Amino acid sequence: MKKLFSLALALSLGAALFAQEKKDVTLNIVPLPQHVQIKNGSFNINGNTKIVFDSDEDKKVAALFQDFLKSNYNLNLSLVKSVGKNSIYFSSKNANPSNKEAYELNIASDQITVKGKEAGLFYGMQSLIQLLPVDKKASIEIQQASIQDEPRFAYRGLHLDVGRHFFPVAFVKKYIDILASYKLNTFHWHLTDDQGWRIEIKSHPKLTQIGGYRNQTLSGNYKTDGDYDNTPYGGFYTQDQIKEVVAYAKSKYVTVIPEIEMPGHALAALSAYPELGCGDKPGPYTAAQTWGVFDDVFCAGKEETFKLLEDVIDEVIPLFPSEYIHIGGDECPKTRWKTCPYCQKRIKDNNLKDEHELQSYFIQRMEKYINSKGKRIIGWDEILEGGLAPNATVMSWRGDQGAIDAANQGHDVIITANSYGLYFDHKQGADQNREPLSIGGLSTLRKVYTADPMPTKISENNKKHVLGVQANIWTEYIGSSNKVEFTILPRVLALSEIAWTKPEKKDWKNFSEQRAARQLAKIDQTSTFYRVPEVYGIVDTTVYASEYTIRDLKPSVEGAKIYYTLDNYDPSELDLEYTGPVKVSVPNSKERVFKAVVVTASGKRSNYIRVNIINTKK
Ligand code: ACM
Ligand code: ZN
Repeated sequence: MKKLFSLALALSLGAALFAQEKKDVTLNIVPLPQHVQIKNGSFNINGNTKIVFDSDEDKKVAALFQDFLKSNYNLNLSLVKSVGKNSIYFSSKNANPSNKEAYELNIASDQITVKGKEAGLFYGMQSLIQLLPVDKKASIEIQQASIQDEPRFAYRGLHLDVGRHFFPVAFVKKYIDILASYKLNTFHWHLTDDQGWRIEIKSHPKLTQIGGYRNQTLSGNYKTDGDYDNTPYGGFYTQDQIKEVVAYAKSKYVTVIPEIEMPGHALAALSAYPELGCGDKPGPYTAAQTWGVFDDVFCAGKEETFKLLEDVIDEVIPLFPSEYIHIGGDECPKTRWKTCPYCQKRIKDNNLKDEHELQSYFIQRMEKYINSKGKRIIGWDEILEGGLAPNATVMSWRGDQGAIDAANQGHDVIITANSYGLYFDHKQGADQNREPLSIGGLSTLRKVYTADPMPTKISENNKKHVLGVQANIWTEYIGSSNKVEFTILPRVLALSEIAWTKPEKKDWKNFSEQRAARQLAKIDQTSTFYRVPEVYGIVDTTVYASEYTIRDLKPSVEGAKIYYTLDNYDPSELDLEYTGPVKVSVPNSKERVFKAVVVTASGKRSNYIRVNIINTKK
């Protein structure tokens, strides 16, 4: 009897533990925190709840939370300095001294405490915001729990190309808000390219006056059906606007890394200062009107090139507190350098082997200049060509080799390659016919989520050089801020989780069907665009059967509905609602097509998923 009793006890304890573990992953936070303990009961935020802070820095974060409750839940809570019952307490006292991005969030019956320093406190607040209910009118009950959290990687980045298309300051700030809400901490601002120079440089005003504009732009797909729009296009940020964005980012604990492209991707700069192209009679050049890689690059032989770029750097550095300046270095054809007397003389005078070593000379010379100003460089992985600059950090984008070489040589590395789904300009679903125009490639939500951005071929003791991960948003085919939002959401949620959460804790089903689905339901209530993921539970497939039951479908957005057709027409909210298993009966020698879509509360639709059911019986 005693044995039986203890067995039963052990079983129920086991069940309780199991339930506890199961429950652990049900807090709807993205990225998933490292440690969560769920407790019984909840904390109720009501009109009498006080928001409490300790230091002035803590007050900033507390005030952000106060604003969020006011604008989203119509709750105007007071901000006070004394702790009591029914309070939400933001404090940097006793915060983790070794990691300023770590935080603790304790939700008890009579108090919520958010503990962290600076970014950590802010991230604790972001987690708390994510725990607020989707229904803005419901009473606010927060599950009691205790969270200890810190990031896996110190560098968690998102890039935006404003060269191919320009985006206004207000949108750049919104973009920073999106980054920060998922605990990303770096905004890589790609400010110059062939198609436009977007940062005011007072000593060389033509860079924006001329280089900030192009006469027309290719519309459509440049490989197949593109044609020019015959419409001038351009824009740039003044230095005051840049300062405004950098200060805004700082208030959200986001570092802005500026990118000034060299020696390639320089046509816009050359259109303003053609004398910096190769040869004795360079130019004329125009800012590029189409996409791709162009042969006209900065001349590496002329001193004037370095003079201009150093002047640019002199103005860029005071605008950006970032430790890093990104100097591009990618996709620089050597065509012009091969026949340019200035470039050839530079090669000879410096005993360089070839044009690849000339590229290395260029980057190393700029690195030395930037280092002399107290900053470090980052460049795309081509900066490895012809020898890596001594203190450079490498952004590995062409697969893993750049990352492996750089890390094994003791250099820091950021992983951005699309082998990990990190080129967010690539399409989000396999069938281009169901997707908006994009540059091609494939980066699905699942591909991003399941990636572990730690190349296995980097030796164990060099893995510390992988500082983190970043997704890139190139904007050749992204001309509106709505499309930028569609491009990053929901993939940013997956990016945040691979950047923040330990890989062994990741769980695609829990992420996609529950936590991301919850966050998307919240985004669905706002004016922000996003791509509604396809229905979960089926994939595009063909089955051979006379009868087939579609079951276990789940919407990709919490609270959204699933609709389907059986006649091969594209489904919408006008069709049949999926509420349980659907039995499809197929006559002999016939085929039926089941297509299902997700339709959200705001009316947004996913792409359909299709199941062909073929009865081969005669
Ligand atoms: C790049 O995609 N050219 C870095
Ligand atoms: Zn040259």
